[in-house]
Amino acid sequence: MLPNVATARAARGTRAIVTRPITIAVPKGRVLKALVPVLARLGIDSTAVLGDGDDRRLIRDLPQIGWRLLLLKPDDVPTYVEYGAADLGVCGRDVLLERGFDLYQPVDLGIGKCRMVVAMRTSVTTLPDPPRIATKYPRIASAHFASRGVQAEVVFVQGSVELAPLTGLADAIVDLVETGETLRQNDLEVREVVAEISSVLVANRAAFKLLGARATEVVDAFRAR
Ligand code: PRP
Repeated sequence: MLPNVATARAARGTRAIVTRPITIAVPKGRVLKALVPVLARLGIDSTAVLGDGDDRRLIRDLPQIGWRLLLLKPDDVPTYVEYGAADLGVCGRDVLLERGFDLYQPVDLGIGKCRMVVAMRTSVTTLPDPPRIATKYPRIASAHFASRGVQAEVVFVQGSVELAPLTGLADAIVDLVETGETLRQNDLEVREVVAEISSVLVANRAAFKLLGARATEVVDAFRAR
């Protein structure tokens, strides 16, 4: 072997041995708080993750355990994982379903549990044909009604989805329900469950294999919760 090739290979080998932090994309907010017990078991204090009120850093290095957390909007977590900017991510199944990501999901974290439902006004018994559906999840809503042979007119809204049937914007909604309180207080009720939702650990399939034991360590840490 030519010396420069041998040197280059040796250098690549050295780089592979040097352990860079394993990068995990996590959503800011509620889910991040729910990860505190996982990290506490690994000896990480919650302030290292949550920071104080003024901490705006979007990268949180945890050198004690060789992890680097990227703090993201929930919808962006699978994008970072898909493109390899993060090794692993914590992500709601609602985001994966809506955006059509096919990522490896080694662990259901059992946090952020809720249901994706079709809800209507309590006074309404049947939907018109075609029904108009307001939702933050147009892909999930269209697929759900299509699976029942109904071509729904889907109207995308960013939030306060429950308002749509009350104002005549839509006949029904497809949205997440956790406690059911928002539906109750707005005179709506669940008519169908579209999917059970929770947060899962996600990984790019190829990257996960390459990470080997290091990825398994993270999976085990989350699985033990
Ligand atoms: C979510 C969801 C429902 C509500 C359900 O909205 O879209 O509106 O929570 O929770 P509940 O069953 O416990 O009442 P979010 O709080 O994200 O606000 P949004 O209306 O701005 O989307």
